[in-house]
Formats: sequence, structure tokens, C-alpha cells
Amino acid sequence: MLIHSANQLLTLSGGPQHGLALGALGIIENGAVLIRDEKIIALGTTAELRADYPNEPGLDASGCVVMPGFVDPHTHVIWGGDRAKEYEMRLEGAKYLDILAAGGGILSTVRATRTASIEALIAQTRPRLLRMFANGTTTVEAKTGYGLQTATELRLLKALLALDDQTPVDIAFTFLGAHAIAPEFKDNPQGYTDQVCSLMLPILQLWWQANAPELPPPFVDVFCENRAFDLAQSRQILTRARELGFPLKIHADEFDNLGGASLAVELEAASADHLVKTSAADIAALGKSDTVAVALPCTPFGLAERDYTPAKKIIDAGGILALATDCNPGTAWNESMQFAIALACRYMGLTPAQAIAASTINAAHAIRRADKVGSLEPGKQADLLILSVPDYRHLGYRFGTNLVKQVVKRGGVYSVDVGYYRTA
Ligand code: NIG
Ligand code: FE
Repeated sequence: MLIHSANQLLTLSGGPQHGLALGALGIIENGAVLIRDEKIIALGTTAELRADYPNEPGLDASGCVVMPGFVDPHTHVIWGGDRAKEYEMRLEGAKYLDILAAGGGILSTVRATRTASIEALIAQTRPRLLRMFANGTTTVEAKTGYGLQTATELRLLKALLALDDQTPVDIAFTFLGAHAIAPEFKDNPQGYTDQVCSLMLPILQLWWQANAPELPPPFVDVFCENRAFDLAQSRQILTRARELGFPLKIHADEFDNLGGASLAVELEAASADHLVKTSAADIAALGKSDTVAVALPCTPFGLAERDYTPAKKIIDAGGILALATDCNPGTAWNESMQFAIALACRYMGLTPAQAIAASTINAAHAIRRADKVGSLEPGKQADLLILSVPDYRHLGYRFGTNLVKQVVKRGGVYSVDVGYYRTA
């Protein structure tokens, strides 16, 4: 299949974009891309590719932008229940960490998730993944973390493995058993930390070998925060995970600066995420590292807070900046990377080009899949978007509606219809 006549074809070629290199889109005007089976074969102008492949069936992208599918590298997309009531409480002045300390917040979702069957969890999560896909996300990272006990955490992983098979979107898996202190250990955070290290992580390793031997091991993540896991406990968990061969991630500096970002760099984590209250020393450490700085602008927006990730400082320091939705029931129930881009442009000072690179090739590096997705290059997976806009800057500029016309996933074409039908 030859996708041709794109107003702008954004290749994002050349690998993850460090520091001020962020925003190199690799634009081909009147661009075309040749796809065979699940892979990209060639890129160029429409004239070049038509000459080289005269008999190839075509897909007309005239008037449109063609670009890599979004990679959303940080979500908590699987959960039971909802938190609409807490949203209202927060509007009336309650604070997120106070609600958590009172047994609500993450812990209220934990109660709803523990009692949900695997069928119910799959049924509730599938439409979220399909909304992400319709909004252009072709690869998504998904965390456990609403079980906080071995059996439920593994049930969440099992459900995510099933959803990876059942939906067109590809899932990168993360074990977040250290998302909050389990209610059974309410007054003994160190006891739960020890249990994560001595029991949950070794069981996870065996379970993964038995249930997903063909897949790379999941990431292990920890919520490094006051009222969750302190820096020493985060270090204990991540160090143990690393010994067991798991790649690492961390939630750092969402509300307070505990030094989690520097810990991530020290342990060579794939990413450090949130990074709102990040110190100058932490930013300097990130800037010299291969640990991707993942900003989640939907979270301060969702909490109606004023501070966002200091993206320009991270870029100036040489860091690899990525964007994600953080889709979760507490702080940011949003499935659209387009909306994350619109926020990042306004509140983090990114240009549309920087935000696009942060949502594709750099986001792919945050889940260590930049060799397969995140850019349009020969040999890479044919995951791309046809946007019904004439210029890439419409991403960021426009918000709240879906600009995707078609999603191409592993070479298959999915139409995202903007029309409507009378059904009765
Ligand atoms: O990334 N910070 C921890 N985890 C989520 C919130 C999860 C929840 O409130 O359910 C976050 O914002
Ligand atoms: Fe998160």
C-alpha cells in the first residue's frame, strides 16, 4: 500500500531527541510512505515513490498530515469503579493526598478493583484503550497498581495481556505493586515495602516466565512520594527489581521533591515521570542521562494545580523529554495524547514540533521501543496516523476534538469517522 500526497509527512527519523534537538520532525512535503505487511518499506515524495512503485494500491492523504502513531508511555488505564465523587470533593477544597491519607483516593480504587472479576476489568478497560486508539495512540504503557496484593496485581497483568491480544493497540506492561501502602500495612509502610521486595517481585518474575515467556519482562515502577514510598523505600524496591532483571520506572516529584529523579538516573531507569517539583540538581542529573523525563500535563490540569513540569529547564539541561496522558481515575481521566500536547504547548512552553517529538520517538524511548515504533523509517512497524489537518501545528493549536482521520496499525487501516448516523 502506498499512502501518498500527504501535505506534510512527519518522519521523526534519527532516534530519540536529546535536549535542544527536540522538535526535529523530518518533514517531507507531498510525502508518501510504502507499507508491506506490517512494516514500512520506503519513504519519499509522492513523485519518487510513484515512480519506484507504479503498481502499488494507493491511499490518498491529500490535504492531510501523516505522522507516526502516538506512544503514550505512562497510564494507569486498568481499574475498577470510578472517583467522580472525589472529583467533586476536590472542587470543594479537599486535597488529593489528604483524601488518600483518609483511605480514599488510590485506596478507594483498590477496593473496587480487588472485588472486580477479570472479565469486568477487561470489559471496563477495553473501551478506554479503543478511545485511545481512535485518538491516535498506537502503543500504550499500562500499569497495574490498584491491587496492592499479589493475586490482584497479577490479575491486572493477566487482563492487560488479554487486552493486548484483543485490541489493535500494543501494550507495554508495568508492575506498580508499590503504588500506595496496602491497607493491610496502613501503619507499617516498611512492612509493605519488605513484602514487595521479598514476595511480590520474585513471584512476578516466576509468573511472567510462566505466562508471557515470549515477551520482555515488565517494567517495575514505584510511587516515590510523601504518604506513599519514601526515597529509601523506593531505592529498596527498585534495587531489588533491578537485581531480578526488571527494567525500571519511577513516579517522582508529583507533589514533593524527594530526590526520586536522581535515584532513577543512578539506577539507569528507563524513565522518571511527573517531575513537577523537580530540583535543579535532579534536572542536571536527568540532563546527563538516558533516563527519559516523562511529563504528564493532564495531571496538574486534572487537579486544577498551577505548576507543570519545567520542560524548558529539562531540555536546556540536555534531557530527553516525553509526554504521556497518565490516564487514571483519580487525577487525569483522559485518553487523548492530542489533549496532552495542547496542554504541553500552553503550560510547559513547548512548540507543537517539540510536543509531537515528545509524544512519538521520545515516548517510544521511555518504554524502550524506539527501535520499533515512534518514527517512520524503513523497517519499523507501520503504525501511523492520517490527520485531517493541513499543517502539523494544528496539533496543540486545536484541542478538545479528535483530529485523526485514519489510524494505520501494523499496516491495517482503521477509519475514525467524524460523521454521525441516525440509528432509529
Ligand atoms: O500518576 N501518582 C500516582 N498515581 C496516579 C494517580 C492514581 C490515582 O489517583 O488513582 C498519578 O497521578
Ligand atoms: Fe502515574
